[in-house]
Amino acid sequence: MIDVRKILIVGVTGTLGVAIANKLKSEGGYEIFGTSKSGIQEIDTLQALYKLDLSDNSSIEEQVYAILKEQDELHGIVFASGLLKTGFSLLTKSEPELLQVNFLGVLTSCKILMRKYMNKGLKSVVFIASSSATNSDGGRLGYSASKAALVSAGQTLAREMGGKGVRVNCVSPGLIESKMVNDTIDPMSQLDLLNRIFLKRLGKPSEVASVVTYLLSDESAYITGQNIAVDGGMSW
Ligand SMILES: NC(=O)c1ccc[n+]([C@@H]2O[C@H](COP(=O)([O-])OP(=O)(O)OC[C@H]3O[C@@H](n4cnc5c(N)ncnc54)[C@H](OP(=O)(O)O)[C@@H]3O)[C@@H](O)[C@H]2O)c1
Repeated sequence: MIDVRKILIVGVTGTLGVAIANKLKSEGGYEIFGTSKSGIQEIDTLQALYKLDLSDNSSIEEQVYAILKEQDELHGIVFASGLLKTGFSLLTKSEPELLQVNFLGVLTSCKILMRKYMNKGLKSVVFIASSSATNSDGGRLGYSASKAALVSAGQTLAREMGGKGVRVNCVSPGLIESKMVNDTIDPMSQLDLLNRIFLKRLGKPSEVASVVTYLLSDESAYITGQNIAVDGGMSW
């Protein structure tokens, strides 16, 4: 029986990262650590904030080392970092950056963290993917591909890590009330998209955080290799 669970949230400064940290804090029984691109923001729910910029794969091992050096054990890891760039597919040049930050960088850091912590308490890993991984959203070529790759990697890791007692799941939010949505989807397009959502509203960051918290807990002890949509029904 674990008294206090240590959770690392990669991308803890984002809308969803903050919501997940707040939800864990309100549940109690968690020590929360986080990373952000710059590693300099003050967040009072955290025990420590580390710098982890996922845009350069060659520097990831060195950055993750700061976490490995200070933390002897970790029970859960959430990858809530991410980047969204949009545009007409034949004109965009952002695919390499999106694949690096949303997929390769996540995978590289996840593998380093798993190698250390799989025998030091690690029970649950959660990747925040996106409904764009499986929906055909125009204008999101690199983003959708990076999230689809993440879902696939999550399933492979779940299969390989199951025997070691580590569960790996993805959570795929749809349209959530957030800066990311407001910065990339104009109000008219948001209204159009509402028609695709069964529940006729955007999701709240706390509604994603609840599912992530469940996946980190023993309540979900028999769930692994899943991609759980939190999208009000948008993906159907
Ligand atoms: N918001 C939505 O409606 C929605 C829907 C579907 C999926 N998602 C996914 O959910 C996740 C979180 O979304 P969000 O709305 O919370 O996004 P957000 O507010 O833009 O936060 C993004 C987070 O990622 C970090 N980040 C950005 N570039 C990075 C890099 N190069 N290296 C390391 N970290 C980097 C940011 O760190 P800094 O603060 O240091 O920049 C921040 O912590 C993303 O993966 C996103 O794709 C979101």
